[in-house]
Amino acid sequence: MTAALCPGSFDPPTNGHIDVIERTSRHFQRILVAVIANPSKDSLFSLEDRKQMLSQALSHLDNIEIDSFDGLLVDFARRKDVSVVVKGLRAVSDFEYELQMAEMNAALAPGLDTMFVTAKPAWAFLSSSLVKEVARFGGAVDGLVPPGVAVALKERFAG
Ligand code: PNS
Repeated sequence: MTAALCPGSFDPPTNGHIDVIERTSRHFQRILVAVIANPSKDSLFSLEDRKQMLSQALSHLDNIEIDSFDGLLVDFARRKDVSVVVKGLRAVSDFEYELQMAEMNAALAPGLDTMFVTAKPAWAFLSSSLVKEVARFGGAVDGLVPPGVAVALKERFAG
């Protein structure tokens, strides 16, 4: 078991995402961060922006690859020959949806397992949606997102 897939919308990446990926990277030789190209919700940042933000925030780790996918996660995992998906869990409220996705993915691709990393309490309240809402109305998000993301949010909502 050497590689793990960390998929998500990352619109934008938060310190919670980065923490989960960092901690996962200690347990696997290779981490494939998979950014969904077309999330179901309209995204604030382009795919290239989201990949670039992740790449900058994770540049201190040497076992990370940033990639993107469209369509089913199980097809991407199969193409990349990865059999473990790692997701972060913040609260019980995340669990129901995450369990549904994990079970569906396992049904579609027997042998693809999902593992969960619990969020640090400091990030348990944090979500990309909340960060965007706070930034949109001029609130400070420094300390909640990587520095490059804070700058990008300020630029996006300037004026
Ligand atoms: O950051 P998110 O929004 O929680 O990430 C969700 C994501 C992108 C991992 C999930 O929506 C996904 O895997 N989408 C790809 C489409 C797919 O495979 N759907 C079936 C999953 S049960």
